[in-house]
Amino acid sequence: MENIKAYVQENKDRFINELIELLKIPSVSADTAYSQDVIDTSEAVKLSLEKAGCDFVEICETDGYPIVYGQKMIDPALPTILVYGHYDVQPADPIELWTSPPFEPVIKTTDIHPEGAIFARGACDDKGQMYMHVKAFEYMIQNNNLPCNVKFMIEGEEEVGSVNLKTFVENNTEKLKNDVILISDTGMISNQQPSITTGLRGLSYVEVEVTGPNRDLHSGLYGGAVANPINILAKMISSLHDENNHITIPGFYDNVEELSLEERAEMAKAPFSLEKYKNALKLNDVYGEKGYTTNERNSIRPTLDVNGIWGGYIGEGAKTVIASQAFAKISMRLVPNQDWEVITELFTKHFMSIAPAGVTVKVKPHHGGQGYVTPIDSIGYQAANMAYTETFGTPAIPVRSGGSIPIVALFEKELKSKTILMGFGLDSDAIHSPNEHFGIFNYLKGIETIPLFYKYFVELSKK
Ligand code: BES
Ligand code: MN
Ligand code: MN
Repeated sequence: MENIKAYVQENKDRFINELIELLKIPSVSADTAYSQDVIDTSEAVKLSLEKAGCDFVEICETDGYPIVYGQKMIDPALPTILVYGHYDVQPADPIELWTSPPFEPVIKTTDIHPEGAIFARGACDDKGQMYMHVKAFEYMIQNNNLPCNVKFMIEGEEEVGSVNLKTFVENNTEKLKNDVILISDTGMISNQQPSITTGLRGLSYVEVEVTGPNRDLHSGLYGGAVANPINILAKMISSLHDENNHITIPGFYDNVEELSLEERAEMAKAPFSLEKYKNALKLNDVYGEKGYTTNERNSIRPTLDVNGIWGGYIGEGAKTVIASQAFAKISMRLVPNQDWEVITELFTKHFMSIAPAGVTVKVKPHHGGQGYVTPIDSIGYQAANMAYTETFGTPAIPVRSGGSIPIVALFEKELKSKTILMGFGLDSDAIHSPNEHFGIFNYLKGIETIPLFYKYFVELSKK
């Protein structure tokens, strides 16, 4: 694989242009206004897999958006790598905060990406990272050095909970049979310091609704005499954390895995500057659960956050009104051993129980998934580390991430194989935010590193 660097150099303009074409299609899975675009993107992904050298590619219809499946089987006696990624993206709003339109990709330089980064929704999460795998595969086909079998499963509903993928995986365990699952949909510490994600948090996502009077009321005529659903909702939400920022839901922490002091000390060795962290977010201080560091708060500890809250009048000027209803969307990030369905139930029970007389409360569960941790002594982890060591000149550090890819825990349960999370994004790439981007360095480095994972995985599997 000595010539991978040269292949990337020779083809980099084409690699970038192909990704740009993919990024132009607004495959927003959350918004039905884009449903044709999501479908068009699945076709584009199918075509790219065929062109790269898969000998079988199909669009698998589901009750939602299709899953693109492709494969190249060279020898049943060799190991099989299953690559997973997603071609759907988050909504682009708030659109006015983008410095260039989200679906008109442009290359701009930043302090962190002096060699340029592609700015577009999905550039990093996950079209750019998914496409690295297609191009790495193309290289191995073109150079006749694909060392094992490969299967691709690229879905279009990751950003909305992978509900249909779950059924697909359960019904196709034989087709998806593999020795290791490889995903690039996470990040790394910095362009100088690669890391491998060894943990993902679980998730429980709910929507709550507080109803007071049967109609919006004059806030003078009725104010003070009836429960105001917005006041009540705010009060209920604020009671969900105590003065130490612990979550107050009874039983919430029951199964939380407590890390030993040694494990925490090991984690703290990863390079991290609190000053830089605050600076990057223009914060005068960080905030979170007492007794834990910033990196612990966003990886090994569970959280509860309001993601959106609305009700009443928010138009121009003032309107004196007591709204009939108030709403909020709440996410709880969970850690290993916390079961998301149990947590959803605990939340629901508690939230209903703290509702005062004068309002009615509804809790609607959205979606969720279990967390994931993976050991660092597996062949997959070692192969990934060898690949990074070669392309970055320094070994990767294992890091538990705060994000969630709920399907990963299901893969392990249904397909009985480990997932290796080789992410090439950076926290500063602004995924889910305005001005999402993906460094050209990161994109090309990913394409360079992936074939080495294949090589070392096959080598280590023989031993
Ligand atoms: N790629 C992200 C998850 C991620 C990003 C994990 C960075 C680790 C580091 C994924 O697309 C995502 O956004 N997942 C959702 C969960 C899903 C159920 C909507 C999330 O974490 O909010
Ligand atoms: Mn993603
Ligand atoms: Mn995402």
